[in-house]
Amino acid sequence: MKTDNCSNLTNPFSLSFGKEPLSLIERDYQNNEILQSFESDNPAYQVCMITGVRGSGKTVALTNIANQLRSNTNWIVIDLNPERDLLHTLTAELSNRKELLQLFRDAKINLSVLGFGLEIDGEPPVTDLIVALRRMLEKLTRSGKRVLVTVDEVSSTPGMREFASQFQIFLRENLQVFLLMTGLYENIYELQNEKTLTFLYRAPKIEMKPLSIPLIMKKYQDIFGLTTDEALSMAGATMGYPFAFQVLGYLCWVKKEKWQDLLPLYDTYLEDYVYEKIWSELSPKDQAVLTAMSSASSGKVENIRSLIGMPSNSFTTYRSRLIRKGLIISPSYGTLRFALPRFREFVRRQVFLSVE
Ligand SMILES: Nc1ncnc2c1ncn2[C@@H]1O[C@H](COP(=O)(O)OP(=O)(O)OP(=O)(O)O)[C@@H](O)[C@H]1O
Ligand SMILES: [Mg+2]
Repeated sequence: MKTDNCSNLTNPFSLSFGKEPLSLIERDYQNNEILQSFESDNPAYQVCMITGVRGSGKTVALTNIANQLRSNTNWIVIDLNPERDLLHTLTAELSNRKELLQLFRDAKINLSVLGFGLEIDGEPPVTDLIVALRRMLEKLTRSGKRVLVTVDEVSSTPGMREFASQFQIFLRENLQVFLLMTGLYENIYELQNEKTLTFLYRAPKIEMKPLSIPLIMKKYQDIFGLTTDEALSMAGATMGYPFAFQVLGYLCWVKKEKWQDLLPLYDTYLEDYVYEKIWSELSPKDQAVLTAMSSASSGKVENIRSLIGMPSNSFTTYRSRLIRKGLIISPSYGTLRFALPRFREFVRRQVFLSVE
């Protein structure tokens, strides 16, 4: 590897979550799908959810889409924290935007009583938060502006449910508001199954697919000066899993060794940063299915099912749930394999250690 002269340079790979990395692999086709709908004159949908396993790049994709819209002056992008009071923060954020002040003054929206500092002499103050928010959104819609609200890592909390159900009302009122959320499959599933939030059920869910192997190869080749074959085997070892792409690059950069010699470290990082967490969040039955998969002699469903003696219909339930969670894939009818790199080895270790 040609990394001898790189020691003083910044490592182009990053292990931090939730932040756009220096080495970014494009996901244009997935991001554009959302952007095109949001930007169209007649949006096919105004709410969209990004799901995927931990480390699959949900936050990075959300940030990327939000930043692209932010650069367009017709868009007002507001990032909300699901742990805070979402409606309150949205109102506060809108009323604090300097570029919108005049617009709201023209609409004579006096928010002094609500404590948002938008004060207009001689106008009766708005006393209800929802009324204030609606009036601001109406004004923005009439002025040709669109508001994108992003919420990273949603789950079915009372605050999130309240926010989503109010959002549904704003949509019915034809306001130009858009909502982009990310979440683990199980959390999104729980939220959309709330009786009052059926509109989320219909909203598209974009699943984070693996990154393109040719693009990963190119990146590794450019950074480490590898041959095509070397780059292909290194990219293959990530299986397109974004966090693995960063870890393997990071380790090769720091250690200046071939990736094949770094497998124990690669396993340790994957385990410590994500796999342990993923495993701890699975039900015992999900764990049992994965355990059977890890020791089965082939990926054949029959083979795996017979190892745990599970009837066909309950196996189908676990199988589809694990697929939706992004942990396994079905490459062809009747077969299954792990979706994440070195996950089989990780599961084997869990089995072995739990027997101790
Ligand atoms: N398009 C990409 N190209 C290269 N690396 C990426 C890309 N997207 C994400 N990553 C890397 O993958 C890791 C995880 O990204 P991110 O934090 O977006 O995942 P996440 O799905 O939001 O995870 P979590 O569910 O834990 O919040 C980070 O190290 C990030 O740098
Ligand atoms: Mg995230």
